[in-house]
Amino acid sequence: MSARIKPLVAGNWKMNGLKSNQAEFYKMIAGIPDDLAESVDAMICAPATLIAALADKAGKGAMAVGGQDCHAEASGAHTGDISAEMLADAGASAVIVGHSERRADHGETDSDVRAKAQAAWRAGLVAIICVGETETQRKAGDAVSVVERQLEGSVPDGATAENTVIAYEPVWAIGTGLTPTAGDVADMHKAMRQALVGRLADAGGSMRLLYGGSVKPANAGELMAVSNVDGALVGGASLKADDFLGILDAYSRS
Ligand code: PGA
Repeated sequence: MSARIKPLVAGNWKMNGLKSNQAEFYKMIAGIPDDLAESVDAMICAPATLIAALADKAGKGAMAVGGQDCHAEASGAHTGDISAEMLADAGASAVIVGHSERRADHGETDSDVRAKAQAAWRAGLVAIICVGETETQRKAGDAVSVVERQLEGSVPDGATAENTVIAYEPVWAIGTGLTPTAGDVADMHKAMRQALVGRLADAGGSMRLLYGGSVKPANAGELMAVSNVDGALVGGASLKADDFLGILDAYSRS
């Protein structure tokens, strides 16, 4: 954790969630303590089909709603895509860009991710930019250099602590139950902080650096205690209100 930075815990529902799952979101909102917003920001990045309904329910309360991807253009002939402006119009305040599943499934490159982050800003959304190495890259000793390269290519000039959040998600830790050691997370977050400060000066020093990959209530406290970890991006454990509230609790207590 960085002393001056308010943490963000963002859930990523991925391609999960029907209208019937809104009840789980309502349970989360109901379970959020009144004073949570003083110590931690909470967000669910929902499937596009649910954003309007969830944002309507969340209102201006302690839970924000985000999207999971956006097209770089504001509108046009891009069948099936969704723009940042559309997400904002539906009530989102942020959007994940460059998640490793998008990079792998849709061949998104760092420059695609950079353009999407700029699109998010254009629409007034916070860009949650994801980076992270594969297992092969880590075993080869390349984890830090891979992530530094992704940061360099994916984070646009003009990134600030207000318009950008970085999420470090080792690909091999996503959905596997595996997590890096606290020491490895500390080393990576320190390297990211140094790279961002080197490039963006003060903005890089105050930007939130989330850790993501198999975050659960049981390990959230330990991860949060790591220096330069300013919150979490949570997949599977964000689908259940009890788990997500447990993670929020760990972050609000630290
Ligand atoms: P996980 O997913 O928490 O299920 O590992 C994290 C993510 O992909 O954002």
